[in-house]
Amino acid sequence: MKKLLYQFDTDALPSVFDNVVAYDGGADQVIPYGEVTPQNVGGLVEGAIFTRAPKDKRNTAIFVGGSNLLAGEMLYQAVQKKFFGNFRVSMMLDSNGANTTAAACVAWLSHGRSLQGMKAVILAGTGPVGQRAAGMLSREGASVSITGRQLDKTQATCDAVERRFGVKVHAIAAPDLDARTAAVQEAQIILATGASGVVLLEESHWKHLPNLKLVADANATPPMGIKGIDIMDKGAQRHGALAFGAIGFGALKLALHRACVARLFVQNDLQLDANEIYAIAKTMVG
Ligand SMILES: NC(=O)c1ccc[n+]([C@@H]2O[C@H](COP(=O)([O-])OP(=O)(O)OC[C@H]3O[C@@H](n4cnc5c(N)ncnc54)[C@H](OP(=O)(O)O)[C@@H]3O)[C@@H](O)[C@H]2O)c1
Repeated sequence: MKKLLYQFDTDALPSVFDNVVAYDGGADQVIPYGEVTPQNVGGLVEGAIFTRAPKDKRNTAIFVGGSNLLAGEMLYQAVQKKFFGNFRVSMMLDSNGANTTAAACVAWLSHGRSLQGMKAVILAGTGPVGQRAAGMLSREGASVSITGRQLDKTQATCDAVERRFGVKVHAIAAPDLDARTAAVQEAQIILATGASGVVLLEESHWKHLPNLKLVADANATPPMGIKGIDIMDKGAQRHGALAFGAIGFGALKLALHRACVARLFVQNDLQLDANEIYAIAKTMVG
């Protein structure tokens, strides 16, 4: 029986990245739909849950993606609401790669060490990757702050992370390089999750920080978000800290994404969101 993955994307153009990785994760056929919303997803879900016998339902799965994490979360919940009894299929949420990217990065940061009590600053953490990383770092016991250029947007992001993960996250308004430099002075962990190609910190701004233990940058498009990290870094020593670049932990991100897709076809009731995907990442890191 063919393994069918229904790719529900909240954007008009479904992600090619997610489509390719779904095939590489073991789907026989990936069927992309764009502009999927909680309002129009009902019939699509019914088609997925009513068509195969109970023992065969594990061969149908749903992937929720798109560039907007909030829209993805709402769509994911709308799909869940359509399930009842054994009329369900496995599903995964990874809007903008937020879960798999953050999970891969935080799994590397916590690999072989405890983050309990460490001060973490997520630069430009208001996007999908930063929000998920904030939840995962907090659940590892770190004290997490998120910076953003506007306080109201940054505070709203922290509130959303707190609601989602049940953790406390601090908002810091940091509209420019000077403010971001001030924000990281006490940090033991710095993670940059800014938009592609945006420089958030110069090397001179972090290379003398006395407490810094871990520094990571999710941006894979030059220039680096944190200057002085190499994109390939995977635990390289940089100014007394261990550094991780976007491609350095990106290999785990891709392997994780594929492994999650593969798991969707093992059973028909798996739900893979941030916590589950992070737990899988921790078994794969190293
Ligand atoms: N390594 C991997 O495998 C992988 C996978 C997926 C994504 N990524 C990368 O991970 C990073 C984060 O992804 P994302 O989707 O969460 O990012 P995003 O939503 O595009 O951007 C994150 C934040 O960057 C800030 N920002 C935008 N322009 C800025 C500017 N000119 N100056 C300062 N800050 C600015 C914004 O925050 P404020 O408006 O609040 O300031 C925004 O919320 C991206 O670089 C992405 O390419 C890497």
